[in-house]
Amino acid sequence: MTIIAPSILSADFGRLADDVQAVEAAGADWIHVDVMDGHFVPNITIGPLVADAVRKATSLPVDVHLMIESPDMYLEDFVKAGADRITVHQETCPHLHRTLQRIRDLGAFPGVALNPSTPIATLQDVIPYLELVLVMTVNPGFGGQAFIPTSTKKIRAARELLEKEGRGEVPIQVDGGVGPETASRVVGAGADVLVAGSAVFGHPDGAGEGVRALRSSISTSH
Ligand code: DX5
Ligand code: ZN
Repeated sequence: MTIIAPSILSADFGRLADDVQAVEAAGADWIHVDVMDGHFVPNITIGPLVADAVRKATSLPVDVHLMIESPDMYLEDFVKAGADRITVHQETCPHLHRTLQRIRDLGAFPGVALNPSTPIATLQDVIPYLELVLVMTVNPGFGGQAFIPTSTKKIRAARELLEKEGRGEVPIQVDGGVGPETASRVVGAGADVLVAGSAVFGHPDGAGEGVRALRSSISTSH
């Protein structure tokens, strides 16, 4: 079953708890929390305080995506704030093996995200230590960007590498430009977890309808 993880980046921060509860009621599976520091990506968003607010608003897994430099400095704060999953960028972790071990030691599931220009092969030596691969399907930093078409080939390559290394159970997450018009393409290529911000929280009939539309766009094609 494909997992839907709405990204709160596109939520209404004046009523964040309501938006989170609306997507939970509509059948979302995880809540994706996009953390940006204005250095690794050209945007500043939220930190552990908001992850804590999300934690209090839902019983769904809190899936934290760290688009920040030196993520090691903040792992404990995010786990304390209630993060169930912490995904770090390969591009920000010179000691990625140690970072993944530390996330696991803190009690969260470790994931690795790759920017569009970072090859899947860079994951080779940490495959045994990760519990999620996040294939960025836009350049990180903003919601509402266009899906990068070559991403489907990259999703397939990630699926092949995981299978080859005996880690076929590790979910592949995609993030950026995912909506009803791209969902079946990425699921067909091997994606298990769909992050969607604007397609959900920007839906004209409300976030709940955004989740339902995304879910039905997958089921009709599979
Ligand atoms: C982009 C973020 C994505 C973004 C997705 O840097 O990592 O999670 O919120 O937004 P949409 O679904 O609007 O492309
Ligand atoms: Zn994200």
